[in-house]
Amino acid sequence: MKLWGGRFSKSTDALVDDFNSSVRFDARMYRQDIEGSCAHAEMLGRQGIIPQEDANLIVKTLGEILHDIEDGKVDFATDAEDIHMNVETILISRIGDVGKKLHTGRSRNDQVALDIRMYLRSETDEILKQLTELKTTLLDIAEENVETVMPGYTHLQKAQPITFAHHVMAYFEMFSRDGERLADCRRRMNVMPLGSGALAGTTYDLDREFVAQKLGFDRVTLNSLDGVSDRDFVLELAFDLSLIMMHLSRFSEEIILWSSNEFGFVELDDAYSTGSSIMPQKKNPDVAELARGKTGRVYGSLIGLLTVMKGIPLAYNKDMQEDKEQIFDSVDTVKMCLPVFSKMLATMKINKENMRSGAARGFTNATDVADYLVKHGLPFRDAHAVSGRMVAYCISNNTVIEDLSLDELHSFSPLFEEDIYEAISLETCVNQRKLIGGPAADTVRRAIALCRERLSG
Ligand code: ARG
Repeated sequence: MKLWGGRFSKSTDALVDDFNSSVRFDARMYRQDIEGSCAHAEMLGRQGIIPQEDANLIVKTLGEILHDIEDGKVDFATDAEDIHMNVETILISRIGDVGKKLHTGRSRNDQVALDIRMYLRSETDEILKQLTELKTTLLDIAEENVETVMPGYTHLQKAQPITFAHHVMAYFEMFSRDGERLADCRRRMNVMPLGSGALAGTTYDLDREFVAQKLGFDRVTLNSLDGVSDRDFVLELAFDLSLIMMHLSRFSEEIILWSSNEFGFVELDDAYSTGSSIMPQKKNPDVAELARGKTGRVYGSLIGLLTVMKGIPLAYNKDMQEDKEQIFDSVDTVKMCLPVFSKMLATMKINKENMRSGAARGFTNATDVADYLVKHGLPFRDAHAVSGRMVAYCISNNTVIEDLSLDELHSFSPLFEEDIYEAISLETCVNQRKLIGGPAADTVRRAIALCRERLSG
């Protein structure tokens, strides 16, 4: 008979058992379920709601069950519905009537709300660690490349020269914000719902603060209806993970482009690439492509979860059981992507010469030609037009601005002097952009040092 079977005269249809059951996916919360139950039982004993020795026996037995689960000695039963009822059923099978006291003053509604908060809290911490590793890798790569000139793009058209360090540090900023968002989400997650009961709290004199403190929560939830029906933290996490994937996906796209023969900016390590079953020459960036591709399922979960929650009246409804597979999949996906992505970057070879020659073609110094004329007295709009005419001339004569003679330059403007060549060299173009946030080598070095400090602090 079901733990809740009292008012029923028939057992559930096998189809319904199967349909209703979540243990195949919520079993992964067994540790949080047991830790939560231990704290609840201990509190029931301290408050004199159940005898102290019963509380002790429950806590001790739950500890044994935890061990047995971790040793693979426990088979969960589909007809026991979910991980919560499975653990309770096993407890009762081991210690009988004493085990039946555990659920005093508790509902599965506040129990599941507790477990999912605890589970996602620990997954969030794990992802934060992985993000820190990725960010450390980015700093290492940046440090090696503060003088590696490459073309910066807008519209995927060559725009102005930057350095590879500057480019990589842009991703550092994105992943830093991702980390801040996760930490912020964790704060709202870390609120203890037990004591909300099924929806309206409970008549027992529970010590909610004790349970919260015991389980590492910052505070207790303030409204029992909200305590059991809030899944905002799941959605926030789903969004934060989507953003991480979006950043990984943009970076992946660049790596895929850069490792193409046409760009040749980077070469992925053999250990982080794959071959083709038919074309012997192929070396494919599968890791980056998969990271890009897996972004889809993480976005899908976000929309799925938003949709699950949008129409359900207060308080708990079974719809909410649908939160788990989606958020678990998002968590698993991000946890799988981050470390492999970090390693792929760390082992990637950077072709500095190709990056540099990419920046040298494509008139990435045309803005600096205009700026030179501005410094010699021409209004910017006129200077822009002169530089534009020079670009057009170079294109039809198959040359570049820095290869024009001073005489040729004078045919565009008398303001050019011998120092123009130095003023529009790639190094000058990069290193004169030394405002905070710019690509100049010293500026980026300072940014890297600051970020390193923040990372370790
Ligand atoms: N397995 C359920 C879930 O994930 C637990 C709560 C069930 N509560 C209930 N009254 N049916 O949401």
